Amino acid sequence: APKPVISVVAGDGIGPEVVAEGLKVLCKTVGDDTFDFVHHDLGAERWQRTGEVLPAADLEQLAAAQAIILGAVGAAPGSKAIPSGLLERGLLLKLRFEFDQYVNLRPSKLYPGVPTPLAESVTSRGPIDFVVVREGTEGLYCGNGGAFRAGTDYEVATEVSINTAHGVERVIRDAFVRAEQRRGKVTMVHKHNVLVNAGGLWNRLFQTVAAEHPGVTTDYLHVDAATIALVQDPQRFDVLVTDNLFGDILTDLAAAVTGGIGLAASANINPDGTFPSMFEPVHGSAPDIAGQGIADPTATILSMALLLDHLGRSDDARRIEAAVDADMAERGATKRPTSVIGDDIAARLK
Ligand code: NAD
Ligand code: IPM
Ligand code: MN
Repeated sequence: APKPVISVVAGDGIGPEVVAEGLKVLCKTVGDDTFDFVHHDLGAERWQRTGEVLPAADLEQLAAAQAIILGAVGAAPGSKAIPSGLLERGLLLKLRFEFDQYVNLRPSKLYPGVPTPLAESVTSRGPIDFVVVREGTEGLYCGNGGAFRAGTDYEVATEVSINTAHGVERVIRDAFVRAEQRRGKVTMVHKHNVLVNAGGLWNRLFQTVAAEHPGVTTDYLHVDAATIALVQDPQRFDVLVTDNLFGDILTDLAAAVTGGIGLAASANINPDGTFPSMFEPVHGSAPDIAGQGIADPTATILSMALLLDHLGRSDDARRIEAAVDADMAERGATKRPTSVIGDDIAARLK
């Protein structure tokens, strides 16, 4: 049988540095002959060289892959070399939308031994282990807006959030199914006290889906209050479900309280399998540390476990997680180069 093809977009900044370690651990886990890797030269350099962000030929090849691994794309905020968001929207968001990756799954777990800014009075209350199911194809990410009388004192700028019944219901359903396989609780996060239209739709569909899952406990928090709970009572969460932008913001906070952005993995899933799913760390290209060999590749390595889960290789996924677990238990606050962390985790694979 032909080997499954995995497309790799290493991208910009620390992207290639962390992807190298992700691939190292992935290949050590399943062997060098399990997957065919196709590398795509996309990102800042390609754009600067050719003016191309995501040419049709690359998109076609990516669409045919069984899965996609992405490092990160984008320049330093404030950089003048690349227009802000050109690569993020033209490449990363384009792939999430084009491949209908509506479940953006972002697990957070505080591993024993990992330093956290959380108070001891919080961590002593028990394990912290939750997943954010972030909607990935709608909301404020649709680019639905405009600037009127641009450049004048009377400029009006709008960004209108798109929320469809179809899009909201399917991601809420996914969250409930995940909760049934976990501790049986879904917390919806929104802001329906202010965002009455979108919030109303989310709320109604949440109630509808909840009624079909009587075994799942439900909970709701306004997004501002959710940030407090993530810092003061993270144990209350099992599965969170929320829209695209709230999910973006909450998952950086979730990462920060569970050991840092260098540990936060993610999957952009197209559940019905019509299109490939994409696996990437939550973090970006980190221009401030790029090229120094000090980025933490653990987030990317844990994203490889999510990839293996998606491809039906759960035993291998658990092997990666166990190796990371063991590494975390030993690492304490010691700083290691990117490649050493990759080597250490690879060496712990059983
Ligand atoms: P960022 O996540 O790149 O960096 C935020 C902070 O976290 C920085 O201090 C950085 O050094 C640190 N950091 C990030 N990853 C780390 C790692 N693996 N190990 C250690 N430290 C790490 O966010 P930003 O600075 O807002 O964005 C930089 C660029 O990346 C922007 O162009 C942004 O649009 C883009 N971005 C891309 C993606 C993606 O491609 N998936 C995601 C987020 C941001
Ligand atoms: C993420 C990133 C992206 C997002 C950006 C780079 C478009 O922050 O994956 O979290 O906002 O989704
Ligand atoms: Mn983000």
